[in-house]
Amino acid sequence: MSAHPDRSFHAARRARFLAALGTEAALIVAPAHHHRNADTEYRYRQSSDLVYLTGWDDPEAVALFRPGAEQPFVMFVQPRDPEREVWTGRREGVEGALARYGADAAYPISELPSRLGTLLFGYATLHYRPGEDAALDRSLFAAIRSMAKPAARNGGDIPWRFHDPGRLVGELRVRKEPEELDLLREAARISCEAHRQAMMAGRPGVHEYEVESVVDGWFRRHGGNGPGYTTIVGGGDNANILHYVTNRDPLREGDLCLVDAGCEYRYYTADITRTWPVSGRFSGPQRELYEVVLEAQLQAIEAARVGRNYKDMHDVAVRRLTEGMVHLKLLTGGVEENIHQESFKRYYMHGTGHWLGLDVHDAGVYWHGFTSRKLEAGMVLTVEPGIYVPADDERAPAAFRGTGIRIEDDIHVTEAGPENLTAACPKTVAEVEAACAR
Ligand code: GLY
Ligand code: MN
Ligand code: MN
Repeated sequence: MSAHPDRSFHAARRARFLAALGTEAALIVAPAHHHRNADTEYRYRQSSDLVYLTGWDDPEAVALFRPGAEQPFVMFVQPRDPEREVWTGRREGVEGALARYGADAAYPISELPSRLGTLLFGYATLHYRPGEDAALDRSLFAAIRSMAKPAARNGGDIPWRFHDPGRLVGELRVRKEPEELDLLREAARISCEAHRQAMMAGRPGVHEYEVESVVDGWFRRHGGNGPGYTTIVGGGDNANILHYVTNRDPLREGDLCLVDAGCEYRYYTADITRTWPVSGRFSGPQRELYEVVLEAQLQAIEAARVGRNYKDMHDVAVRRLTEGMVHLKLLTGGVEENIHQESFKRYYMHGTGHWLGLDVHDAGVYWHGFTSRKLEAGMVLTVEPGIYVPADDERAPAAFRGTGIRIEDDIHVTEAGPENLTAACPKTVAEVEAACAR
């Protein structure tokens, strides 16, 4: 499963990355494998930065970027090994890196410690994140030390200054290219239908894990890698646990069910939340709360416009949610004071969204210092306000207790305004009730 069949995309990204590096080198690392327990492993999922720049799927790889060098793009990879490949699968190897992935030079990963010093000679700054792989840290710093004497004798720089590579790659990743948007659209398309299937399958007595299996099964059956993050299915009060992934309880008559799930398709993930009535119809109080969250979400989506501050959509959502909380007597006092004192956080304690792409919480900064960054065309973000009223909250009107609602869509910021990539997923009360018809 390659990130994209056409690797010219990766070549273009590397060219941009090398240009952004200027005179500085970078080392982008993929971990060895994902150990689960005893002798078993999770299915390998390439690190997002590495796959973004190379399209390389295999574990245990290092991509070295050396702007200005004769061989600017060097890969260290697991070599072909027929005996190992019988157990763990085919490898592209050194040959593949050269022939199919555009490496200017490629070596077995075992040669990294002995080659790194020479390859990094001349670069004073290295983009590398220490602390993630102790063995690699040791190899790298030993290689740099080995160059210290020759450098002192004859001149030439060796790395002495380190930057987090995520910063520069993140700046590239935060603006999506057309081919990335295609993949996000496909992830969104599969995910929207999976949510509709979940609404159809849920009913009193069905377990949260059964709904999860409908959603995750749909992702796989339609060519997805699976969920881009662990699927959340929370019935009733479980919806008030933001990262509830136990998914163990039966759904109960009269409760709402919150499903937060997104398909990962060729490394790109959607991120959708829908909240629907287990019995097929919202009760009066559920509907009142739902309409507040929905309006807050629609207003926040409208704020996802070129030139607006990233933070605006949160402020818009907070205002509408707080108005609703005051109106529904979840909060006492006025709207302004509840916003100012942040008392809305009792029922809305998370942010209103995040970048979306290869990672569900995608790369890219949100702030420049303390200034919220401006939205640009090509950015993709989620908009996901919610209201969460725990069952044991005695300050809340009884009718709302045990109700958690979040509505989340994936928005592409364009010159023409916000494009909702997940618009096909039922969302209004009428659409949701129609999808939930029992
Ligand atoms: N599914 C994780 C999130 O919504 O941020
Ligand atoms: Mn999200
Ligand atoms: Mn989500």
